[in-house]
Amino acid sequence: MSKQILILPGDYIGPEIVTEARRVLDWVNKRYILDLKFVDGLLGGAAIDACGNPCPEETLNAARQSEAILLGAVGGPSWDDVDRHIRPERGLLQLRSELELFGNLRPALLYPQLAEASSLKAEIVSGLDILIVRELTGGIYFGEPRGIRTLENGEREGFNTYVYKESEIERIGHLAFELARKRGGRLCSVDKSNVLEVTVLWREIMTDMSAQYPDVELSHMYVDNAAMQLVMAPKQFDVLVTGNMFGDILSDAAAMLTGSIGMLPSASLDQNGRGMYEPCHGSAPDIAGEGKANPLATILSVAMMMRYTLACPQAADAIEAAVSRTLDQGLRTPDIVTAGSNSVSTSQMGDGVVAALEALADQ
Ligand code: IPM
Ligand code: MG
Repeated sequence: MSKQILILPGDYIGPEIVTEARRVLDWVNKRYILDLKFVDGLLGGAAIDACGNPCPEETLNAARQSEAILLGAVGGPSWDDVDRHIRPERGLLQLRSELELFGNLRPALLYPQLAEASSLKAEIVSGLDILIVRELTGGIYFGEPRGIRTLENGEREGFNTYVYKESEIERIGHLAFELARKRGGRLCSVDKSNVLEVTVLWREIMTDMSAQYPDVELSHMYVDNAAMQLVMAPKQFDVLVTGNMFGDILSDAAAMLTGSIGMLPSASLDQNGRGMYEPCHGSAPDIAGEGKANPLATILSVAMMMRYTLACPQAADAIEAAVSRTLDQGLRTPDIVTAGSNSVSTSQMGDGVVAALEALADQ
């Protein structure tokens, strides 16, 4: 039976990068006889413009019927003035929440070809291969109560609530321990348990769970220290597990270690392995429509889709190998350009990856 994939291009550079990723999807669909069927939908600003809602019911229904979702990026200055309850980002958060996509995998892998593109010295980052596991449907992003209220003296006060239930900590913990077990066997749980009770509980539960994973070495780190260690000695890490907001921040920092946030894919998984796949970067309004966006994070997100939802690791390996070959050939979008390499457009990078897929398949 054919499997439905929902395509949500989103805003600004979203459609440009999704177009290239879609070519890769079409290629693997044919090559590996995956029988995928694609449907398009609206999310974020594009959906606000079309129907006044960043996450329309139609999109939610299509998402529920899909095996996997490919998302570009949402948001941007066009919607700065809309009511905060219907901002484009709210659409993304609602989709994550409604589908219970609690497990966000953000691998930061340095392609050796890009060691010079990193803002850190090549020796600090060469060989870097870390995985950030971010809890995605809880924590301060979703905690209630939240809002902006006016106090008796007329002053306004903004407030959010940082909460995690035991069950939420356990399910992200299990995912992270399982992933660490399949990788280097080391898991670092990041919290702020010297200050925040919610993360005292987080640390306690991670520690209790580690008894079930004797083959995984668990350590703990405060988030401020983790931020420092990530830019000082990032190779000490294998898998990091943390809450929603800390994961948001640390994953952007980790992305830059790899040369560009334009290289970082992500998977957001539910309990059954269904998922949404999107680059970690945003909609980059400043370069939209200019063919300057790097499509590789989105293309590598397709590889993750093959691995984690569609159970076709050969396709994932092929895509990753094709990206590496494209970089070997010196193709670089402006964000990863270094001395001696050619700056190419978004679609030329897509051409390069598809050509590399063909070439590697013929070997
Ligand atoms: C991310 C983004 C989102 C987040 C925004 C767009 C809501 O920064 O996926 O990291 O904060 O989760
Ligand atoms: Mg972010």
